Amino acid sequence: MNLRLLLRKPFVDDPFAKKVDLTGRHVIVTGVGPGSLGYETAKTLAHWGALVIVTTRRNTAAAVEALTSELANEDFAAKIYGHELDLCDADSVNRFTRWYLENYGDRLDVLVNNAGVHLDLMSKWKEPRLTQDGQEVQWRTNFLGTAHLTHNLLPLLQKTGDSHGDARVVNVVSQIHSRARNEALFDSNTSYNSWKFYGLSKLAMIHFSHELNRRFSEHNNVQGYCLHPGGASGTYTEVATRGFENSPIIGFLRKLGAPIERLFMSTAEEGAQTQVHCATSPQARGGHYYLNCAVSQASADTQDTQVALRLWQQTQDWINTLPNATIESTANVVSLNNR
Ligand SMILES: NC(=O)c1ccc[n+]([C@@H]2O[C@H](COP(=O)([O-])OP(=O)(O)OC[C@H]3O[C@@H](n4cnc5c(N)ncnc54)[C@H](OP(=O)(O)O)[C@@H]3O)[C@@H](O)[C@H]2O)c1
Repeated sequence: MNLRLLLRKPFVDDPFAKKVDLTGRHVIVTGVGPGSLGYETAKTLAHWGALVIVTTRRNTAAAVEALTSELANEDFAAKIYGHELDLCDADSVNRFTRWYLENYGDRLDVLVNNAGVHLDLMSKWKEPRLTQDGQEVQWRTNFLGTAHLTHNLLPLLQKTGDSHGDARVVNVVSQIHSRARNEALFDSNTSYNSWKFYGLSKLAMIHFSHELNRRFSEHNNVQGYCLHPGGASGTYTEVATRGFENSPIIGFLRKLGAPIERLFMSTAEEGAQTQVHCATSPQARGGHYYLNCAVSQASADTQDTQVALRLWQQTQDWINTLPNATIESTANVVSLNNR
């Protein structure tokens, strides 16, 4: 055991997901920038035999190449392919969906909705930053864009669940969901601060996971998971630096604190374990909130099934009012592939 792990041991639990043979399975992992949780997730799932489709916002070829070369010395050929995807651009979400269906559309076993932003870890914005289509950027990325992608792919997930008995949607959320309240989900006049909206986007994603599980697990074997990856930020993933790329002061402070951060924060590989567990474990069950590869307790607000139902219905309307955003009718493609 290295010194870092030895020093961490009294304070931090670092469980690792157990290996599962994923040969033949198709998995999508969103947001696999270098050093991210998504990158480590994709690497493990490919290592365990899945065909893995990864997304980044730009230059996806570099991510695919990096992942493939990391697995080059294994005694099998890793199957990793990629496509660009910007969750804040409905057109991009639809383009990605069409590309996936045309190329790999006979099955989708797991959709890992990992991509997300928390843009101001070290301060609070009092004014929302908006996407080109006029939405608060964290809500748009972490919830609306992710829900749009999931709705597009649901027919294929259902088909896979029906024929193979197990399909999953794994949503990476955050413990910060507990700072948000259900009332704010439907109140467009709710007061703004950026931490609250990050929390709100993750609270919405937990409701979305639970409602998806209620709707599709019993009859179509599509389970909805959500999880908090633990604190894997700072020196390891990029989540803490978003929005501060050009600040010399923050850069200097982060360098100063890096040794302490390294000790207490998880590496991206450690942080990815719970999403790998939810994506693969035969023992794991949908409809729960996970932490450290085990079922954990989310906030009381996440237990309100009426809110989840209302949010599910409302979300389809929200998506359909975004420019170019009608939910793709992938059901047609799925039935064509069935012939
Ligand atoms: N790290 C933690 O401690 C922690 C804690 C709780 C929850 N989380 C959650 O874990 C997930 C992964 O975080 P991370 O720590 O790995 O962060 P990260 O290093 O910043 O990676 C996030 C990924 O999401 C992608 N992304 C951002 N905006 C996007 C958009 N509009 N469309 C498509 N992709 C987009 C990024 O793509 P680009 O590379 O193109 O920017 C990047 O690849 C996030 O959902 C985050 O909220 C992380």
